[in-house]
Amino acid sequence: MDKLSWVEQDKNGRDYTIEFHRISDEAGFWALVAQIRSIYSEIFISSSDEEPVMLCENKLKRLWDDIRDCKPMIFIAKNAENKALGYALFLCEAPEYYEETAVLEQLAVASEFRELGIGKKLIFSILKVMPDMGYIALHTHISNYIAQDMYERLGFQRFESEDSEIVDFVYKIKFKNERT
Ligand SMILES: CC(C)(COP(=O)(O)OP(=O)(O)OC[C@H]1O[C@@H](n2cnc3c(N)ncnc32)[C@H](O)[C@@H]1OP(=O)(O)O)[C@@H](O)C(=O)NCCC(=O)NCCS
Repeated sequence: MDKLSWVEQDKNGRDYTIEFHRISDEAGFWALVAQIRSIYSEIFISSSDEEPVMLCENKLKRLWDDIRDCKPMIFIAKNAENKALGYALFLCEAPEYYEETAVLEQLAVASEFRELGIGKKLIFSILKVMPDMGYIALHTHISNYIAQDMYERLGFQRFESEDSEIVDFVYKIKFKNERT
């Protein structure tokens, strides 16, 4: 598994590290899940009749099955105590998307570390490791107004999806020959 890291600063001037990992196998996937599990659980366990721990495990198992063939990679923001503050999971070869598209499959920041600029840094981390990508694409639920506001503010273009529950967003990265 490739690994790379660099230091960023949040809006309060505190340093944190962003780690990049290419997820190449199931063992690597579960090792990374162990690091982001608390954030994942906070976001993805909703009010369901299913027992929360089982729900979380089942969702994660399905997630691995869904992403395994799509060249997944993850950026994890961590503080000095090695606590995960947030993560962005990207797919670099996702079917149904144009070539040169990094699909932002999941983005989450732990609730106590939001609005500090970490989500934005995680999104654009992809440009550090995949500078030749043409687009960042993602979809979000129609009810997720915070995320929709954020993507629009960051320069993503909004598209209505065929699925009325979903909104699609695309960010066009400058192509190589357009760069100065
Ligand atoms: C969406 C989410 C990842 C944003 O992370 P974050 O670290 O708080 O975002 P940032 O601080 O980097 O903010 C980025 C931009 O969005 C805006 N924004 C973020 N949270 C906002 C809020 N609650 N209200 C209004 N604007 C908000 C910020 O103003 C910022 O714009 P700016 O740089 O021009 O000031 C975080 O709220 C989260 O984890 N939500 C739950 C999971 C989720 O919805 N994920 C997205 C699924 S597609």
